[in-house]
Amino acid sequence: MTDEGLIFPDHFLIGAATAAYQVEGAAHEDGRVPSIWDTFCRIPGKVRHGDTGDIACDQYHRLEEDLDLISALGLRAYRFSIAWPRVMPDLNGKPNQKGLDFYRRLVDGLQSRGVVPMATLYHWDLPQTLQDKGGWVNRDTAYRFAEHVATMAAAFKDDVAFWVTINEPWCSAFAGHLEGRHAPGLTDLASAVVAAHHLLLGHGLAVQALREADVTGQVGIALNLSDVVPATSEAEDIAAAARVDGYENRWFLDPLFGAGYPQDMVAWYSSQADLSAIRQDDDFEIIRAPIDFLGINYYERKVVSRGDGVNSAQRRPPEGPLTAGGLPVRPDGLLNILTRVHSDYTKLPIYITENGAAFNDYVDPEGGVDDVERIAFLEAHLRSLREAALAGVDVRGYFVWSLMDNFEWADGYSRRFGIVYVDFRTQARIPKASARWFRSVIRPGAAPQISIHRR
Ligand code: FCB
Repeated sequence: MTDEGLIFPDHFLIGAATAAYQVEGAAHEDGRVPSIWDTFCRIPGKVRHGDTGDIACDQYHRLEEDLDLISALGLRAYRFSIAWPRVMPDLNGKPNQKGLDFYRRLVDGLQSRGVVPMATLYHWDLPQTLQDKGGWVNRDTAYRFAEHVATMAAAFKDDVAFWVTINEPWCSAFAGHLEGRHAPGLTDLASAVVAAHHLLLGHGLAVQALREADVTGQVGIALNLSDVVPATSEAEDIAAAARVDGYENRWFLDPLFGAGYPQDMVAWYSSQADLSAIRQDDDFEIIRAPIDFLGINYYERKVVSRGDGVNSAQRRPPEGPLTAGGLPVRPDGLLNILTRVHSDYTKLPIYITENGAAFNDYVDPEGGVDDVERIAFLEAHLRSLREAALAGVDVRGYFVWSLMDNFEWADGYSRRFGIVYVDFRTQARIPKASARWFRSVIRPGAAPQISIHRR
């Protein structure tokens, strides 16, 4: 395989992503309190094998080793999340010093290795005490989140280059409150739509808090966007696809970029659920507070037919080559999303804050993990991203999901997404073939073959 044409300029932020609950472990140590995922994992049948994030990749205890790994892989940037239950356990505004110390070691360790830190402030691990008061269905949670953000902004003011307020509000709201696949595991449309509103409000308040703290880093949000297409050009299929697009994409993009909620979806949700708990007043002003970049997590292209529901469980399975997680391999979807966001929503710089796939990786008799499927997947997606850049989209970075195999939410440890293999019994880290390939793409000092920056 040749890397020709896939070499990115030095300023292109290419790296890997993780999230606290998926890698840290140490769930009951040094003052961390339970989150909704600690609770959810203990509900029988919710997580495969009954797995939990109690130990995960044990990164809390193996930080130096993992920092060295990040450096050895040549990553230019690392996206991690700050666990709210680790840093703000009592919710009375007093941070947990031991939690802050951990992230201080992480941020300093990245910087001393020349790796750019990108910090996510909410990657799904809501403190359980807040869930007990209604969680994201309760408007107050958005304000508590802003307090957490203000505390982190003060602690890491000039040291974090990129702040992501919330990771995938769609998942927290709809996978968590309507589809019941994620914590807190509800299946109620009104709760989901109200939670989505409060997550967006929390994002806007977080942007305000970061601006008030005068952080030097850039501020943005990470949305999971799907490329949704109708199965045929017939009106019924087009209408079904528009609804799925409204559910997953437009419900978040429209208010963030200024248009409030899409009216077709408001009408549809209101016909089935009481949404009076959504207080709108000036909320849209807060939600559309200017940000510096948009993060996009790309995993899926969805072909929708009449009769398909919005809920993932009500749609027919995808066709074509699939990943081990059952998702279709569709790099063209990334190009479609990037060009659509650029033409319909914003000219802001875009970072692919997550993209990757699970495959059935295993250690072979020689001791290696030859994940040729992942190399092909990553190469195809990077080519798609390059095409978008050539078409004028201001895409400035790419983070592979994930640095290492980890706790994959409801799938437990059964889905391996890493470019580094983790033996969960011994915690040995074994870079996969894809990690070596990825490193060759990042090669420092390589001559830029494409102009990614437009400004
Ligand atoms: C995304 C999540 C991330 C990871 C990947 C596979 O939706 O943000 O934590 O689980 O999916």
